[in-house]
Order: sequence, then C-alpha cells, then structure tokens
Amino acid sequence: MNIKGKHYRTIWPHPDDERVIQIIDQRHLPHRFVIEDLKTLEDFEAAIRDMHVRGAPLIGSAAAYGMYVAALQFSASQNFDEKMREAAARLKATRPTAVNLAYAVDMVMKVIDQPVANGHEQELALVVAHHITEESVAHCRSIGEHGLKIIEEIHQRKLQQSPPIVNPKSSIVNILTHCNAGWLACIDHGTATAPIYAAHDRGIPVHVWVDETRPRNQGASLTAFELAEHGVPHTVIADNTGGHLMQHGMVDMVIVGTDRTTRTGEVANKIGTYLKALAAADNGVPFYVGVPSSSIDWSLRPDQGRELPDIPIEERDAGEVHFISGLDEKSGEVREVRLTPKDSPAANYAFDVTPARLVTGLITERGVCAASEEGLVGLFAEQKDK
Ligand code: MRU
Repeated sequence: MNIKGKHYRTIWPHPDDERVIQIIDQRHLPHRFVIEDLKTLEDFEAAIRDMHVRGAPLIGSAAAYGMYVAALQFSASQNFDEKMREAAARLKATRPTAVNLAYAVDMVMKVIDQPVANGHEQELALVVAHHITEESVAHCRSIGEHGLKIIEEIHQRKLQQSPPIVNPKSSIVNILTHCNAGWLACIDHGTATAPIYAAHDRGIPVHVWVDETRPRNQGASLTAFELAEHGVPHTVIADNTGGHLMQHGMVDMVIVGTDRTTRTGEVANKIGTYLKALAAADNGVPFYVGVPSSSIDWSLRPDQGRELPDIPIEERDAGEVHFISGLDEKSGEVREVRLTPKDSPAANYAFDVTPARLVTGLITERGVCAASEEGLVGLFAEQKDK
C-alpha cells in the first residue's frame, strides 16, 4: 500500500543488511511515521508483545523473522537446538490469541529441525519467513477478489432498487469494519479491507464505517489512516454506533478480520466483534469475516454441547483502558492522558469469540464458504481427516 505515494509493506529486510528486519512501528500512527530496526530476538518479542506490529498475519510474519534473527543470534551457540526451542516458546508467549504466530514459529522449527538443515538453519529460516510473508500477500489479494464479488452484488442490487438518477448516493455500498484488519495488520492489502480496496479500485462506490475500537483505537488510528491514504471514503464512529446505523439501513454489510477461526467456523477477533455480529443478525445485515487459512486453527472445535471453543483470550494491561493518547494540536506533541478515576480498577480483554451461527460467510483465499466444518473442509479438502 502507498503512504504519501510511496509503496510500503509492513515488514521487510533492511535493503543494506539482511540481518536486520525493518517494520513500521504502528504505535506512532497516524501522527508519526516511524520505521524501526529489529536485530535481536528480544527486539522481536517486544515488538510483538507491545504491539509495534500487530494483526494476526503480520504477527505471524514477524514471528518467523524473529526465528530467523534468533538463528543468527545463536548460530555460534553449542546448544543451538535448545536455544531455538526456547526462542520459539518465547515468541509464542508474546500474544496468545492469534494462531498465525504459532503457525509461523512451528513452520520455521519444522524446517530447521530437519537433518538436511544442518549448518543452513539461518538461510532456511529466512526462506520460510519470506515464504510466509509472500503467501500472506497472495492470500490477502485472493480474499480481495472473492469478497469483491459480494460487494459488487450488493452494489448491483442497490442500483436496481434506486437508480443513481433518482439518488446519486443510493448505490454506495456502506461497509462497517471493526479494529484494523487492513494492510497494516497484514503485509499488504489486508483481509477485511482487501475486498474494500478491490471494489474501490474498480470504481464501485464504497463507504466504510470505521469503529474506533477502544481501548487501543486500531480503527480510529490505523484503519482510518490507511483508508485515507488510499482515498477510500470512510467515517470514524464511536464503538457503540454500529447498532444504530444498522437499525436505520445505513450498513449494507460488515466485514471483520480474525485472529483464530476454528474448524467449525467460530471466529475470535478484536473485543467488540461479537456485539457487531449480534446487531448485524438482529437487523438482517450480512456479517462476513476475511479469513486467510493461516488464521484457521484446524485442531479446534467447541467441546460437545458447548457453543464456544476454548480459545485463549489475551488480557492486556489495564493501563490501556485507563489512559488514552493522542495529538495535542496546540503543542504538536503526542500526549497521554488519564480517563478513569485513580481508584477505579479496569479490565482489558483484547478479543471475543463470535459463534458461527452469527457469521454469514467466511471469505478465504480459496473462496467464500459457510462458517461451518462442511463449509471450510469443502474449500480445504486436505484438512478433512485432521
Ligand atoms: O490486537 P490487534 O491489533 O493485534 O488485533 C487485531 C485484530 O483483531 C484483527 O482484526 C485481526 O488480527 C485480523 S488482522 C487481518
């Protein structure tokens, strides 16, 4: 995606030194554009845990590059294998909900554990990190193409119902999204945003309702930033606004991302996603999820008789609820201010799980399917007997 006309990905090897990995430090967006160099395993742990990088696919890619950097760091170590197992565990512990992280770390471990890897672990880890990254870009692009068809259908229906000659705005497709499942959460394109960018680029009129997404405001600061950079019409709304908009016919569809989708179609995503899905179901608004296969946990389904699967839900520091930061327009500085009384405790659950019955469809790189085991296995037949 472009920033001020220049193409960027969210993570890339330093052009002059492949041992250094560069990222956009997303903590500073939208007010400052900061590139950070990551050189050690500790740098990667901090970058993922403290959300310099975030979003399930990007966390996966970053973790793979973290394993590569760890392999460089421990290359002279006598107990290289043990150090790498420790590195894998440390990276996996940084953020528990997104399955992409474990998927990426395990993929690197699997490749460098093979006897043929002996002496070539660093190069192989880099090859795997590049592969995961390129695959993510390709999957996001395909999600865009599949989701585009849904947006196009809604646009055509609206055109027929009310031709633009009667009301020029009536065929605009209004899409609500939550958090940031855009290119900043991935490497490029995004998952939830990929169909939106594809539609916009093809001249289909879209408008995006952007949930601010408290407490870290990924919608207000990141989704709004990237949509603005791409020229996509959008409006930032307070988190509680979606239900009202849906009741008044102002949302044609919801598209969100996912950190972990089970083999039976339950969707873990940013806290508040479930409430949007409930409001969408109550108002007959289709609710779609952009799901790259790297975000599917094929080993997981709800236990017998239960609706919700056992997905680890990250609990973050209460300080993220107590404090908010933003640009002081008078001084031009970014400042942090307290929102809550000093004596009030706060809780900070970062994700929730939306039951499959509330999901209209999963938009994967292989096509759109029902949020069910039949739907997913229909597209990913190789997972049938797992
Ligand atoms: O806590 P974050 O910012 O990492 O949460 C991100 C989300 O919840 C995204 O919707 C999800 O990772 C999908 S990203 C394509």
